[in-house]
Parts: sequence; structure tokens; C-alpha cells
Amino acid sequence: MEETQEILELGAIQESSTPSKKDDFLATMSDLYVKFKGIDFPVIVHDNECLEYTANEFQVRDDDVFNVTYPKSGTIWMQEILTLIHSNGDTEVAQSIPNWDRVPWIEQKTGRGHLEKRPSPRLITTHLSAHLAPKSLFSSKAKVIYTVRNPRDVFVSLYFFSHSISFIETPKSFDDFFQKFLKGDVVYGSWFDHIKSWLGVKSKINIMFQTFEDMKKDPRGSVVKICQFLEKDLDEKAIDSVVQNSSFKTMKENKMSNWSLVPEQMLNPNIPFMRKGVSGDWRNHFSKEQIELFDATYKEQMKDVDMKFSWDSL
Ligand code: A3P
Repeated sequence: MEETQEILELGAIQESSTPSKKDDFLATMSDLYVKFKGIDFPVIVHDNECLEYTANEFQVRDDDVFNVTYPKSGTIWMQEILTLIHSNGDTEVAQSIPNWDRVPWIEQKTGRGHLEKRPSPRLITTHLSAHLAPKSLFSSKAKVIYTVRNPRDVFVSLYFFSHSISFIETPKSFDDFFQKFLKGDVVYGSWFDHIKSWLGVKSKINIMFQTFEDMKKDPRGSVVKICQFLEKDLDEKAIDSVVQNSSFKTMKENKMSNWSLVPEQMLNPNIPFMRKGVSGDWRNHFSKEQIELFDATYKEQMKDVDMKFSWDSL
């Protein structure tokens, strides 16, 4: 990693962390994670009970829409797009209700009991791998959008987010975290296992795969594609509104979308959730050795995957 780049970007954290609000928060926690089926989940928002409930009891409806991601892959971006498509481009909901309430996480403690009362069609987010997702999904016609991002950029985004958010362990160093990410020894488990789990069920459910990179390159084309998948017939003006109001710039300014409502004790405001929003930032951070190691691990892990991604070869 370019040392200056890291110092520049992490400088904000160091300045603001004496005394650190994250350290204050951590001092109040005995355990940071709950382990469920071998995967670590932040204990502040998950427990065994809600994860069991999600997998075994939650009843998926045929008109549910699922926003599935590995963390830092564009989750809140898709929350915004789905909200705006759902409201035919009207911005009222996106500007008045926090995104986590508009498209809530099914597996969190707050999801249970809450989602059941929602009118259809429900918009639901999850970071779960397919084998932990509700069993009822697999006998439903629900629509699933899986947003996938170059894992190198996911890693960089997660590295900075882990410095910012209180309920995730702070990386010891860039390289230590890098090794852990490649082994899948990070919160929410392995990126490789996650994508492979959903690719493995693609013939069993109604799923579309959408890349973060395509949304960056062609936001309008991506929104049109998502509308087609959702069978939502939006006119040109409504599509323009979805595209404009889900742009990085607009979302960064929308306090219902940019996570600035999260208390400072939980999220360091000096490392914003809406950090850069670009593709390829990993090139500013990886050393030559890290590039090679990531590439070799990626090739080995993905060798049996039949879907091709723009980042497969550098
Ligand atoms: P960076 O940290 O690389 O900036 P998630 O919502 O899954 O946690 O993903 C967060 C990442 O998506 C962050 O990446 C964030 O900046 C980026 N992001 C969120 N909304 C975006 C948008 N409208 N356009 C581009 N990137 C966006």
C-alpha cells in the first residue's frame, strides 16, 4: 500500500481518535461478534435467535424484492435505487425515511416482527450467504438482485469502514487485514464463499446479478435493466429521477441515505460512509506483492465459477 495514501486517508481517524469514541464504545462490549454457522456477525445487531428465525421461519412472499450483497459492494446504493423505482421516481420517501428503514436488513434483530407487518411488495436487504437465507425463498417467486463488486475494492472499502464503525474490529494493519480477508476470516465471512453461494442457487430462484462497476459505467442502463427485472414500467422522467437521486453526489448530500444519522459514537464522521464511490481505488493501496497474492487467490477460488466478471483479469 502507498504509505502516504494510507496516512492521508487515515489521518482523519487518528486526529479524531484521542480519546477514540470507538474505544469508548468497545470498552462497553464484552463480545463484538456472534458466531453463527461459522460466520462472525456484529453482536450489536444480530443474535443467534434472529439468524435462526431468518433462516427457518421467515415467510418470503412472492412479490418480495431482495437486495443481496456482501458488505461494501453497493448495498445502500441499491437500497436507494429500489426505493426510487418503487416510488416511480418520487423522492419523498428517499428524503424522509432512513435507508435502513426503507429497505431493512432481514437478519438484524430489528427486522424480526417488523418486516412481517409491512405491506407488499416488501423491499428487503440481506448480507447473508444463500445457505443462511430464508428457506422459504427457495419455494417462492420473490425477485433477488445480487450486487457484486470487484472484491479488491470491497476489501479497501471494508478496511476504511472497519476503522470508522464501532461494531467491527479495527484492523491491526492493512496487510494483516488483507491476509484475513483472503482467508475469509472477517466479519460476514468470505467474499468468495458469499458470491459462490448465490451463484450456486441461481437456477433455483428468480435472481439477477448486477455489478457495481456497470452501475458506475452506465447508471441509466443499469436502472433500466433493474426495472425490466422488477417488471416496473417507469417513464423516461421517472427513470431520470431514479438515476439522478441515486447518484453518489445526491446520496452523499441526503442525510436519509448517507448514514450521517448514525451517532458519532458508532460511526466516525471523519471517515464518511459515502467515502469515494469509485471503481479501482484498490490500485492506490495494494503493493506489488498484494496484487499478486490477491490475483492468485482469486484465480484459485473462482476457478469453477462459470460467470465472467470485468475484474477477472487485471
Ligand atoms: P467506498 O468505500 O469505496 O467509497 P455498502 O453500501 O455495501 O456498504 O457499500 C459502500 C460503498 O458503496 C462505499 O464505497 C460507498 O461510497 C459506495 N457507494 C454508496 N452509494 C454509492 C453511489 N451512489 N455511487 C457510487 N458508490 C456508492
